[in-house]
Amino acid sequence: MVGSAAVPARERVFISGVAGFLGSHLADAFLAEGWEVAGIDNLVGGYLDNVPEGVSFQVADCNDLPRVRALMAGASVVYHCAATAYEGLSVFSPHFVTQNVVTATTGMMSAAIANRARRFVHCSSMARYGANPVPFTEDQTPRPQDPYGIGKLAAEGLVKNLAEVHGIEWVVAVPHNILGPRQKYDDPYRNVAAIFANRLLQGLPLPIYGDGSQERCFSFVSDVVEPLRRMATDPRCAGEVINVGPDDHLITVRELAERVGAIVGVAPTLELHPPRPCEVARATCSAAKARALLGYEPRVSLDEGLRALVAWIRARGPRPFHHHLEVELEGPLLPRPWVAASGPRRP
Ligand SMILES: NC(=O)c1ccc[n+]([C@@H]2O[C@H](COP(=O)([O-])OP(=O)(O)OC[C@H]3O[C@@H](n4cnc5c(N)ncnc54)[C@H](O)[C@@H]3O)[C@@H](O)[C@H]2O)c1
Repeated sequence: MVGSAAVPARERVFISGVAGFLGSHLADAFLAEGWEVAGIDNLVGGYLDNVPEGVSFQVADCNDLPRVRALMAGASVVYHCAATAYEGLSVFSPHFVTQNVVTATTGMMSAAIANRARRFVHCSSMARYGANPVPFTEDQTPRPQDPYGIGKLAAEGLVKNLAEVHGIEWVVAVPHNILGPRQKYDDPYRNVAAIFANRLLQGLPLPIYGDGSQERCFSFVSDVVEPLRRMATDPRCAGEVINVGPDDHLITVRELAERVGAIVGVAPTLELHPPRPCEVARATCSAAKARALLGYEPRVSLDEGLRALVAWIRARGPRPFHHHLEVELEGPLLPRPWVAASGPRRP
């Protein structure tokens, strides 16, 4: 009989940090696949205009458990992308960072369990590996070097423990350094490629910590979002920690400055600062497990990704640094670019 077939109910995914860089792109990917998407963000990072149309969005904090529990109702899959992803700052503002990395995760996890979600996908960070030899592999014993990495690892432990006790599936995604449009570019504490692009577009010098020989590997956001999206349903991902990011094309921070300069069309002037405490010299992950489980294959080159990032910042408008975060522990080690002209923000 025509029209009698029941329309299958759409699955609902709930994304924390949906006004952020990764969370907003993930929301787009789920909307394109026909999912119902709900999400929250407390707007400590990210931008409100990142939230894609079609997302049922509320400004809320992951630490506000009763509210998160209510907003999460009906979600079968939960992605926890919210975090204060400020690795360098975490030794100077450890309370602020860990509140939004560790406690925020328990809030999300508790709400997911109360709502009987099927699966919880947790965004961890390469900072969990810390001082290990590269490329980082999932079977290495984590050796995080700072409160952010230590917090991310603690959060993973909480996710696994609570998921196993209460019987929901968990996945830990470990992304690399990601770049692309919607990335926060006007705070001075993180996102080196976005900072370089924003500064070069204003004709300003680029801050470099140490001699700029630190090596990193970058992924374009779409190359991370696709494998991440598949973690919602792929049965092989349940109970796994999975790195997501290329394991070749290491580049130094100095080389990155040159590459962004070539795209903007400005020869970069470097502003050298003392090394940041605890900064790891080389950081890249093995992608072997992601290739095997998720068919992971990066498609966007670094230059293409940087061009997209520069074009987005150019269109949105370059901005001066906004020192919006509190510095809890001042002292001679605090990097100068993190101090506003009026001095550090205090709690
Ligand atoms: N971007 C990267 O290079 C990268 C690399 C590795 C891991 N990660 C991880 O991926 C996730 C997303 O990172 P991103 O680059 O999109 O960062 P982002 O800062 O752009 O997004 C995070 C969002 O979380 C929100 N948030 C923070 N604390 C919150 C809280 N307590 N309650 C509600 N919202 C809160 C912020 O306002 C922000 O919009 C994070 O967990 C981060 O640690 C990112």
